Amino acid sequence: MIVTIDGPAGAGKSSIARQLAQRLDFNFLDTGAMYRAITLGAIRKQIDFADQATLITYAQTITIEWQENRIMLDGTDVSEEIRSPIVTDSIKYVAGINEIREVLSSQQRQIAENQNIVTEGRDQGTDVFPHATCKIFLTASPAERAKRRHKQLADIGRPIPIEQILETQNRRDAEDRERRHGALRPADDAVNINSDGLTLEEVVQIMLTTVQERIAQLQIHSTG
Ligand code: C5P
Repeated sequence: MIVTIDGPAGAGKSSIARQLAQRLDFNFLDTGAMYRAITLGAIRKQIDFADQATLITYAQTITIEWQENRIMLDGTDVSEEIRSPIVTDSIKYVAGINEIREVLSSQQRQIAENQNIVTEGRDQGTDVFPHATCKIFLTASPAERAKRRHKQLADIGRPIPIEQILETQNRRDAEDRERRHGALRPADDAVNINSDGLTLEEVVQIMLTTVQERIAQLQIHSTG
C-alpha cells in the first residue's frame, strides 16, 4: 500500500511523513533527497547546469540508493551534504528536466514495489503514484512556514532574517509550481491538510485517521 504526501517546502512534510511511516510500520521514502543527491553530484562533477544533455547522461549513469532512510550517491552516504544551501539553490536546474524526472520516478516506483510505504515529495500523488491508496497534500501558510524555518535555523545557531527566508521560500514555491513537468499541485483525489497552528503530533494524528478511513473505505468496497 502506498501513501503519498506532497506539498511545498517547509510544510513539515519530511518529519511528519517519517513519523507517519513509523506509526503505520511502513517504509519511508524522501524523494527530495534523490533530487538533492543528483544535484550534489553534478556540482561535484562541475557540470554546467545549462548543459542539459550532460546532466541527463550523468543522471542516467550514477547510482542513487535509499537505504534505511539514508541517501547514497555512487555508494557514498551523502545524507548531510545534500542539505547545503548551494544544493537547495541549484535543484531547480535538475528538477526541471523531464528525462531526469523520469529516471527518478521509475526508481521511486521500483523502491515502492510490493511495499507498504509513505512517500514524500512534490509529484508523488500526481505523476509517480497516480493509483496510490491514500494521497495527502500538506500545506501551511507562507508566513507560518517561514516562521518555522526561522526557528529551526536559529536553533542551530544560524539566525537569518525572516524576510529573507520568506523571499527564498516564495521563489522556491514558484519554481516548484511553475515547472513544466512534475509541478507541485494536489492530486484531484488528495486530502488537503493545512498545518497552520497545529503541532507535529496533531498533524500526524490527522494523517493517521485519514489513512485509516481510507483503508476502511476500501474494505467496505471490497466486501460490499
Ligand atoms: O523536499 P525537499 O526540499 O528536499 O526537495 C528539494 C527540491 O527537490 C524541491 O524544491 C523540488 O524542486 C525537488 N523535488 C521534486 N520532486 C520531488 C521531490 C523534490 O522536484 N518529488
